[in-house]
Amino acid sequence: MFTAGDLSWDDFLRRHWQRTLWFGPGALATAAGSVSREELFALAQRGDVESRLIRRDGRRWSVAHGPFTARQLARLPPRNWTLLINGIELHLPAMRALAERFRALPYARHDDVMASVAAPGGGVGPHFDSYDVFLVQAAGRRRWHVSRQRDLALVESAPLKLLRRMEKGVKHTVKPGDVLYLPPRVAHDGVAIDACITLSVGFRAPVPAELAMRFLDFLHERFEGGARYADAGRRHARHPGRLPPEMVTHAEQVLARLRWGPAAVTAFLGAYLSEPKPHTVFSPPVRPLARAAFARAAAQRGLALDLKSRLLTGAGRAFMNGETARLPAPARKSVQALADNRALPPQRLAAAAVDVLHGWYREGYVTLRDR
Ligand code: SIN
Ligand code: CO
Repeated sequence: MFTAGDLSWDDFLRRHWQRTLWFGPGALATAAGSVSREELFALAQRGDVESRLIRRDGRRWSVAHGPFTARQLARLPPRNWTLLINGIELHLPAMRALAERFRALPYARHDDVMASVAAPGGGVGPHFDSYDVFLVQAAGRRRWHVSRQRDLALVESAPLKLLRRMEKGVKHTVKPGDVLYLPPRVAHDGVAIDACITLSVGFRAPVPAELAMRFLDFLHERFEGGARYADAGRRHARHPGRLPPEMVTHAEQVLARLRWGPAAVTAFLGAYLSEPKPHTVFSPPVRPLARAAFARAAAQRGLALDLKSRLLTGAGRAFMNGETARLPAPARKSVQALADNRALPPQRLAAAAVDVLHGWYREGYVTLRDR
């Protein structure tokens, strides 16, 4: 929750969300020092973590993709670089906790938390993003230049998305604990004043063409098309080059079977939006407890979602990491609580909930909490 003067989440959502930029000095004081350069450098060395190193030499920019070696990171120059690391909430519990501070926004909208570790002078250049982002300063200071310009023309042939021109706009110098919120397509440029860490809490919204493509895949998978076109008893073709009208009619009848309603759209969207990012690997328990022992342990210790899990619910179903489970009524309350809070306190679970949760536990999607 924000603690910026009198601004509540309700006020923020009404006045600023998707509309206007917002600067909240000290709005997330707990973010200060919440992640260290060492933790982030360690992530940038992993093959299953997306990282990029952006360097500037005068007006020339270069981008290198990770993973990086400890040696490469130790040899970075004193100025003008920034290391971007995506999806850090999948690996660092403190960063998952940071993302959860934004639970006033549905998890279906959450994208990821990206860290930017920068040397003085470092930044990614003037650009805009298509998504909403909260820029949370975790260490050091950064100078932001923000402008709501119409002209979003990009420099051609640059190795990264750079605006050709940045209009006057406003400037904010941020310190640890400060938050800057930007709606989509607002031009911005952040330059590190000293060695700094900025956390971008990003939000996503489906792109219509991608949504349509993935929905058509979904329909395809469950499509039952009926019989293949057949034309026994047909007459001698006078114009063999012409498309037979009865073939068109048949195709029309087949395609009319592509039907959907809100339930199918919910089932599709839940599975689609809960999909893990590429390269996500879960670690199932080495010696999983059998169902009854698991139910006893859950009653004593409680459960938590794995850091990498995405769980959404809708239309009597649960969508866990792209997989769909029907939720019988007695399972709904506890699964909803797990989806909302990413954890379940110790409790006796209904048998139907144990069925679902034990399956997820065996996949490594859900873990028993430490005693
Ligand atoms: C950064 O923090 O340097 C990049 C984040 C952004 O501008 O979106
Ligand atoms: Co940006």
